[in-house]
Amino acid sequence: MHKNHLEALQHIETPAYVADIAAIKRNLEKAKYIREQAGVKILLATKAFSMYSVFPIMSEYLDGTTASGLYEARLGANHFGKEVHTYSPAYKEDDLLEILQYSNHIYFNSISQLNKYGDLVREKRKDAIIGLRVNPQLSLVKNSELYDPSAPNSRFGIHKEELTESVLAKVDLLHFHNLCENLAEDSVRLISHISEKFDFAIKNVSRINIGGGHYYSHPEYDIDLLIKTLKNFRTKYNIDVTLEPGGAHLYDAGYLVSSVIDTIENNSHIAIIDASASTHMPDVLEVPYTPKILNAEIHTKENTINNNSLIYTLGGNTCMTGDIIGTYRFDDKLHTNDKIIFTDMMQYTTVKNTTFNGVPLPNIGILHENGKYELIKKFNYKDFEDRL
Ligand SMILES: Cc1ncc(COP(=O)(O)O)c(C=O)c1O
Repeated sequence: MHKNHLEALQHIETPAYVADIAAIKRNLEKAKYIREQAGVKILLATKAFSMYSVFPIMSEYLDGTTASGLYEARLGANHFGKEVHTYSPAYKEDDLLEILQYSNHIYFNSISQLNKYGDLVREKRKDAIIGLRVNPQLSLVKNSELYDPSAPNSRFGIHKEELTESVLAKVDLLHFHNLCENLAEDSVRLISHISEKFDFAIKNVSRINIGGGHYYSHPEYDIDLLIKTLKNFRTKYNIDVTLEPGGAHLYDAGYLVSSVIDTIENNSHIAIIDASASTHMPDVLEVPYTPKILNAEIHTKENTINNNSLIYTLGGNTCMTGDIIGTYRFDDKLHTNDKIIFTDMMQYTTVKNTTFNGVPLPNIGILHENGKYELIKKFNYKDFEDRL
């Protein structure tokens, strides 16, 4: 991070989520390269990131959005434009009718929903593209069973045996979403598996969506391997290919800036900050993982050797006992008002936060490429009250 960018963050009101435009563009340049080289479409899965103030920039690089529900579909249509795809594990009729105002790509999760609504969708939208989610029954997600759509008894997607001729006659697109933060080798495994096991079905549709979870912006991701695999796949089937990552577009592209409110002792040093794992970065507890901090090291058994006075457990400002963000080694002792800047905080944060405990929601801001901070949104008591 540039020195003047860091300097800008040291002076902002906290807590605040801050989108780093230079880093988002750095990721999206890679997405653009994949789109152009492989001849595929790439969408933003808005479930990972719905900060629509950044959509005008993102839409310069991507083909549209994919929604998981009514409000995301509306947001994508209103603020991102281009294509709006929608997949839901199950649609209620009223929601689907409204979704059709915003989205012409409708993906079903089951044969019963396809049979119930397929004709309605075609009647309401002459330009409808109907998709069907297929469960390839291939587990490639290693970090957590919570995020493996092919986990045993999964509710996602139909199985191979259900893909009969009459079912295929009703759909234009097959949808396989089966990855989560996977590197290129797993994208390749998924694509090879699909071509092998679903060859008969792919030949009967004009489009395929190979889902999200391709972590293309990660430094270890082999982009050229993905491009080569996608190109071979497109040539083999002469088919339109779409990818719909969420998190990868925002990988390491923003911060949660917080401040120390108090330091206390209980056999160890504890700092309480004005942000919370429970309410502001729920994946820290859900995945679980320890987020990185600028200018501090995550404390591990290996780095106990030096000065223990600089090791702090960071706790959130809710009353939930488990609201612990992690233990870190700092260069200096912590004091009230010191800034703690968590990195890689743009994916699955602003979309998942809550006001549990009546804790205020963090501001939302943008760090522009010139180092200027722009406050986009500030929340207040009304936001808390209005939801209850
Ligand atoms: C159907 C679907 N598509 C795309 C995504 C985006 O995944 P990711 O953010 O891991 O790329 C998800 C995430 O859960 C999903 O369920």
